[in-house]
Amino acid sequence: MGKYQEEKRLLVEEAMRKFFPSDGDYPPIIHQAMEYSLFAGGKRFRPVLTLLVAEALGVDPAEVLPTACAIEYIHTYSLIHDDLPAIDNDLLRRGRPTCHIAFGEDVAILAGDGLFAEAFHLITTRQKGEPASVLQVVRELARASGIQGMVGGQVADIKSTGQEVDPATIEFIHLHKTGDLITAAVRCAAILAGASGEILDRLTEYARQLGLAFQIVDDILDIEGKTVTLGKEARSDERKLKVTYPSVHGLEKSRQLAKERVERAKMALAGLEIKTEALLNLADFVYERRA
Ligand code: IPE
Ligand code: IPE
Ligand code: MG
Ligand code: MG
Ligand code: MG
Repeated sequence: MGKYQEEKRLLVEEAMRKFFPSDGDYPPIIHQAMEYSLFAGGKRFRPVLTLLVAEALGVDPAEVLPTACAIEYIHTYSLIHDDLPAIDNDLLRRGRPTCHIAFGEDVAILAGDGLFAEAFHLITTRQKGEPASVLQVVRELARASGIQGMVGGQVADIKSTGQEVDPATIEFIHLHKTGDLITAAVRCAAILAGASGEILDRLTEYARQLGLAFQIVDDILDIEGKTVTLGKEARSDERKLKVTYPSVHGLEKSRQLAKERVERAKMALAGLEIKTEALLNLADFVYERRA
């Protein structure tokens, strides 16, 4: 993600170590399972995005770290559940055996539940700011994770598996299963920074386009990437008859659509009186990434 974002990623890593509940607590296996998935690497794309938006709005990124880390907890929970045999049935994640392979399905389900709850505990305990803003952050994340957000997208994803779907359906799936949490990562930072009106609207549009592009590229990398670089098994979508951008539009058109969304994301920031450079670079990263 470039040198600049590497600095942000390290900030996130350090803060997560600080915030994460101590593993001395009983019963140890649930702490071990949560830590196993959380500290397995991962790009930390969503929390880095939160930090970059805060900075773009003139706020010290350290101020939004509890919310940024909470978003990574929610994302990690979604990966643990996404990998379960009943959903995508995957064996490798972030370069390690998936949580349910390492700890069993029962503990993996609860590790996901635990991370989801800890996310809200972290925000409501440690996020500083106007109480109304912190409450709005909680509401944004609840909505982005729930039936109108990620859960809704995941349900549309599993119910479409093995079916023929139209472009509107695959767009719906991607906007919700992946796009909504990415949008929340941006909006939460903006809300804590006190943004409203046009700035909040344009950042929301940036995030929506970026989130869609992120998942289109994930689909492309499933076909073109290597298991070692991805840290998850390549070519698993086709085997599982998942619906993806390439399965609906073909590979070439999918690349073009991802590029188009990245350009729209960048366009959404044009002329805004904030420091947009890092956000524009991050948009390019989404299209160019190889992992
Ligand atoms: C993978 O997300 C799942 C999607 C929503 C595409 P990431 O590509 O951000 O995975 P990590 O966090 O880096 O492991
Ligand atoms: C994941 O989509 C979306 C969520 C986890 C919410 P995918 O199923 O494509 O993600 P990967 O490829 O397993 O990381
Ligand atoms: Mg999935
Ligand atoms: Mg999956
Ligand atoms: Mg995928």
